[in-house]
Amino acid sequence: MPPPRSTLDSFKARTLSVHAGKALGTGNAVPTAAPIHVATAYSYETTDELDAVFEDNSIGYVYSRYGNPTVRAFEMAIAAVERTEQAVAYGSGMAAIQAAILCASSSGSRILASQDLYGATHALLRAMKAQNGIETTFVDIHDLSRVRRMAEEIEPAVIFAETISNPLIRVTDIPGVTAIARDTGAVSIIDNTFASPVIVQPATLGADIVVHSTTKFIGGHGDTTGGVVATSARHASVLREQAKLLGALAGPFDAWLALRGLKTMHLRVRQQSENARAIAEWMDADLRIERVHYPCLSPGQTPSVFTGEGRGGLLSFEIASASRAEVFRFQDALKLCVPATTLGDVYSLVLYPAMSSHRALTSAERQAIGIRDNLVRLSAGIEDVEDILADLDQALAVATS
Ligand SMILES: Cc1ncc(COP(=O)(O)O)c(C=O)c1O
Repeated sequence: MPPPRSTLDSFKARTLSVHAGKALGTGNAVPTAAPIHVATAYSYETTDELDAVFEDNSIGYVYSRYGNPTVRAFEMAIAAVERTEQAVAYGSGMAAIQAAILCASSSGSRILASQDLYGATHALLRAMKAQNGIETTFVDIHDLSRVRRMAEEIEPAVIFAETISNPLIRVTDIPGVTAIARDTGAVSIIDNTFASPVIVQPATLGADIVVHSTTKFIGGHGDTTGGVVATSARHASVLREQAKLLGALAGPFDAWLALRGLKTMHLRVRQQSENARAIAEWMDADLRIERVHYPCLSPGQTPSVFTGEGRGGLLSFEIASASRAEVFRFQDALKLCVPATTLGDVYSLVLYPAMSSHRALTSAERQAIGIRDNLVRLSAGIEDVEDILADLDQALAVATS
């Protein structure tokens, strides 16, 4: 709140340059876009008011690590689209995943996790044994009778899975997995990054906690890093207390970019899904490709978890009898698709899992979970699909010549 003009007039020039031009309210005018609030701290008319906000800081703002209006606007939007009561935003997807796991477990807890996970999540779960005394058992999440047997045996605090696995694009039977979690007293955590809330909403299928790397489909433009946990008010209040101490909250500018991305997410994901399906069908008919991984390429293959807005922008494919050198040649020959370690952006991206996302695993560990050396992941962008196909065609010709 700026000092009144009459008070300002009495100050010297040096003081004026510090105190003039403080934030102004907008009166009855409501901005049509969420403002970016960069202030570290908030002041109030009276100390009594500040004291009251400290007492229940979910209503007001005191300090940016405790809560920020731009971040809060983004959290409310995510809770709305993921159909949960609340959401808490973080500085990265990995921070969100770690926060979600810590919120639902404690030292000595067991976790039952899909063996088919993003490499860093795999590495985090393994590191948690030494760091937090939390031990993870990995299981084939698609073998539901085995998941149930294991859950009954080890009584996990958490069952963790990805909606669509990275990089094999296998779709998890979320109602089946969350029912097992409910029956065995575990908290179900679903990483919905690969799907986006456009095509799958895990909370409506029984998930207790939904996590995202908002760096991907939600941000959508390759210019923000963030994560979010969408969940019940009960879990969110534990997460907020924990976040104050971990200090892993999203910054206002990243939250704003993600909020801005969210506004066009439906349009982008629908187009990305259409492009990905067309690419998958084209590759399925091409002899240079040994196998294509995309949901529902073969009818009857996929559990019904989808909202009906498409099957997502991700696919992966195995280049017939290609070695690492041929995959490198393929990537280097691309003129339009960008070889980069991310996904979900407006432009098409390719990634070599053995070299990047799953580099932390040994070759034997990769083979055991089906990630072969000829596997490439593709995130379809929103470009004209004819241009994407032409680029893939010429790069495959170079790689296989
Ligand atoms: C499925 C999945 N979850 C989580 C993450 C981690 O997200 P971030 O890089 O924002 O920490 C990634 C990153 O690629 C991912 O693919």
